[in-house]
Amino acid sequence: MNLKGRSFLTLKDYTPEEIEYLIELAADLKAKKKQGITGNSLKGKNIALIFEKPSTRTRCAFTVGCIDEGGHPEYLGKDDIQLGHKESVEDTARVLGRMFDGIEFRGFKQETVEKLAQYSKVPVWNGLTDIDHPTQILADFLTLKEQFGHLKGLKLVYAGDGRNNMANSLMIGSAKLGLHFTILSPKALWPEEGLVAACQVYADASQGTITITDELEAVKGADAIYTDVWCSMGEEALAGERITILKPYQVNQEMLSMTGKESTILLHCLPAVKGYEITEDVFEKHAEVIFDEAENRMHTIKAVMVATLGN
Ligand code: CP
Ligand code: NVA
Repeated sequence: MNLKGRSFLTLKDYTPEEIEYLIELAADLKAKKKQGITGNSLKGKNIALIFEKPSTRTRCAFTVGCIDEGGHPEYLGKDDIQLGHKESVEDTARVLGRMFDGIEFRGFKQETVEKLAQYSKVPVWNGLTDIDHPTQILADFLTLKEQFGHLKGLKLVYAGDGRNNMANSLMIGSAKLGLHFTILSPKALWPEEGLVAACQVYADASQGTITITDELEAVKGADAIYTDVWCSMGEEALAGERITILKPYQVNQEMLSMTGKESTILLHCLPAVKGYEITEDVFEKHAEVIFDEAENRMHTIKAVMVATLGN
């Protein structure tokens, strides 16, 4: 599989085979790292890490993944560079493209990450925007694969803000890889119809299904329940109304019992705001897998850099 020179802006741009390849490559890199073996496929490569929004996992995953492969990462926080203050995205992209071999971007607009890719002419990786978080899905799916041995046919229920970056990206990834994916959310927070329609086309091809519902019974038979914060970065002012409408969709013991399965696992992209989208007791009960998922950010992000930029 040759992904050299490609950007990674959304899973919409990747075929099911390419997504599966990245997950397999990550599993392989993870196994090697556990044996103390790291590579040097990014030797001589300089990587810019642009962050308009804060990050723990994504920043550390890019940094450690890059250094493990012999590359040099450079963190560029929102107050460190001219981008967003007095220089356009197009100009910043053209400058960085002359100095760096790859660029990670986390921030607000999807348009920014697209422009960076267009104007820098080097691989650009989306480390989260308001509408998409594609590298997170690779880690989530690697974790599901570790737990169940396969992805196709798994029932994955996402409970919470059904129109944020995580809901969107999980829907795209699940539809591409043939999962049975449900968004369980109040109607006011259902995903954009155009995206659902696009994902339905992917699901038809992969024999997956997409269900959007506000009925809690939808968790029945779930192999995994996924949740995320009720207020994404930049939406903190909406906390009051979000708590009111999302309270019934909290992931707690009662919801878990409704799956009718002892084996249901919980996933969370983190950071978690315990007592809101998830209760502390169920979080702690499922913490081992949730932190595997966090660790897998590093192995999967490393795989994306190695596949698109590595020697
Ligand atoms: N899951 C995730 O993207 O975490 P950070 O915001 O810490 O990077
Ligand atoms: N929806 C969350 C995801 C954090 C990884 C946010 O955008 O803040």
